[in-house]
Amino acid sequence: MNIVYLNGEFLPEQEAKVSVFDRGFLFGDSVYEVIPFYQGVGFRLDEHIGRLNHSLRAVRIQNDQDWVGILEQLVSKNGGGNLSVYLQVTRGSAGKRSHAYDDSLQPTVFACCTEIKDIWQAGVDDVVSLKAIVTEDLRWHRCDIKSTCLLPNILVLQQAKDEGVQEALFSRDEKLTEGSACNLFIVKRGVLYTPKRSSEILGGITRELILELADKHGIQFQESDIDYDRLLSADEVWVSSSTRGIVPVIEIDGQQIGNGQKGPVWQKMFELFTDVQRKLMTGR
Ligand code: PDD
Repeated sequence: MNIVYLNGEFLPEQEAKVSVFDRGFLFGDSVYEVIPFYQGVGFRLDEHIGRLNHSLRAVRIQNDQDWVGILEQLVSKNGGGNLSVYLQVTRGSAGKRSHAYDDSLQPTVFACCTEIKDIWQAGVDDVVSLKAIVTEDLRWHRCDIKSTCLLPNILVLQQAKDEGVQEALFSRDEKLTEGSACNLFIVKRGVLYTPKRSSEILGGITRELILELADKHGIQFQESDIDYDRLLSADEVWVSSSTRGIVPVIEIDGQQIGNGQKGPVWQKMFELFTDVQRKLMTGR
């Protein structure tokens, strides 16, 4: 049975109830995080909590809690192991529908876990490459806030599925921003490129780690604009997220990327990345 966290209580998921007037439900007036735990240990937990606090401040939801304590207890009550934790904080409920809100509202805090497949033993050959489409980025201009208003993301992913591929990449003002729920990287002549951090993309925790690893291991990288031509003529394209890790994209809008195979720079980064995960899991 799954145990979830709701407003100070740990309880079976069937018993967790939220008001129909909750602003998260009515307006998407809420923010969230998705945090992997490996063998019960939070992956880059401080960074995730830092981003949560950034999102909360940006949308003016006041909520200061012992996030680490809550999440670690939740993970332990769900058996530890490899779990992805979803944490959502809404502005709360005023018992009626009204766009305007009062600062006195009590935020709703909800968290649950899902199992993540065992990346423990995953190797290069276990990673399934993706095909993607490029679509217009119709989101707002505060994509640095991890808000639950995900309708544009959901619709483009569905569009990708309708077109028989697995991912949609957003393009705004002729520049690629990111994927429907992931950051974007390209490799050209051995150099790694990714869009600069701005309010047009989410500051991905995985993205940050990739740049740190590139720096540490002598992989040249640059945060720079990527337009459609550079994307399609890249030697390698990858996407990254907490749930999927780092995944190669081998076809975009029906055109093959590079030689249509997982690239050597991806492979190197994948190995560096899984090494960090394994060290965490074994407590080394
Ligand atoms: N999403 N960009 C967007 C729009 C995202 O939704 C995500 C992650 C990322 C990658 O961020 P990170 O490396 O911190 O996971 C980038 C999560 C996984 C989700 O919505 O489920």
